[in-house]
Amino acid sequence: MATQTGALSTAEGMVRAPLLHKGKVRELYDLGEHLLIVVTDRISAFDHVLDPPVPDKGRVLNGLSAFWFQHSAELQPNHVVHTDVNRLGDLVKEPEKLTGRIMVTRKAKRIDIECVVRGYITGGGWRQYRATGTVNGISLPSGLRKNEQLAQPIFTPAGKNDVGHDEDIPFEEMARRIGPGLAEELRERSLRLYEFGRRSCAEKGIILADCKFEFGLIGENIILIDELFTPDSSRFWAEEKYGLDMEIDSMDKEPVRRFLAESDWDQNSPPPRLPDSVVADTSSRYREIYRLLTEK
Ligand SMILES: Nc1ncnc2c1ncn2[C@@H]1O[C@H](COP(=O)(O)OP(=O)(O)OP(=O)(O)O)[C@@H](O)[C@H]1O
Ligand SMILES: [Mg+2]
Repeated sequence: MATQTGALSTAEGMVRAPLLHKGKVRELYDLGEHLLIVVTDRISAFDHVLDPPVPDKGRVLNGLSAFWFQHSAELQPNHVVHTDVNRLGDLVKEPEKLTGRIMVTRKAKRIDIECVVRGYITGGGWRQYRATGTVNGISLPSGLRKNEQLAQPIFTPAGKNDVGHDEDIPFEEMARRIGPGLAEELRERSLRLYEFGRRSCAEKGIILADCKFEFGLIGENIILIDELFTPDSSRFWAEEKYGLDMEIDSMDKEPVRRFLAESDWDQNSPPPRLPDSVVADTSSRYREIYRLLTEK
């Protein structure tokens, strides 16, 4: 269904294939051998989907993933088959509404670990460090300041839970769950991908503070799945907004964050409707991130 602004809140009813999974932002359809991922314009905050959707957000997220998957394919094979809605033929009813929002992928057996790499100490990593001096069991030097760059990027996995939140786990626990050989392999690949992303972003004046990868297996092969270096899976900071001991502007959802902070919403009840100006600001932020990163 498209709203009057042209934003896409769902592709349900537009795709002639079974809906396998509906996340807060994306929908997965079963194409038999392949998966169809549709990135809608839905936006979430604190685990709530907000209203209305943000025009072009889905195209930006899907376009960024496609861009990064393409540029990192030599470093790490991934699940992308193509992103061309016209190749889907009769499977979609209104192809023009899905242009730029779809990715056809190979199906992998998902490894139930979120592979998180942190180059800077912030967010959940900062909260762990402040409480314990460690992050996922990794001891860090004392006296680090919020948002400080770490001497070495660290790998801080989380177990994927079907219900509730993903849980931070020490590397040893990851190794216990999936086996030490595979765990070591995923850690190395994640750190390499982070380094690739960090450098590419730095060339464009953006700090890649941290990011999350998901991997799957196709036969014996380890394949990068899901999404890659999008604002939903990575923390991007504009270099000129960077500073220690402060909340850094999030580049994407900042207008939403600010609006929600100023509202009296308690994060449990249904969230307030986003004003048009907040939606418009957020939409142009997504387009700006896309332009900066892809130079398109
Ligand atoms: N190629 C693939 N093969 C198998 N599973 C995949 C592939 N690509 C992505 N996935 C899985 O598809 C799901 C996408 O779901 P999505 O991220 O949209 O929602 P979610 O994680 O359930 O919830 P949230 O809305 O909180 O993100 C994830 O579980 C991801 O691991
Ligand atoms: Mg997800």
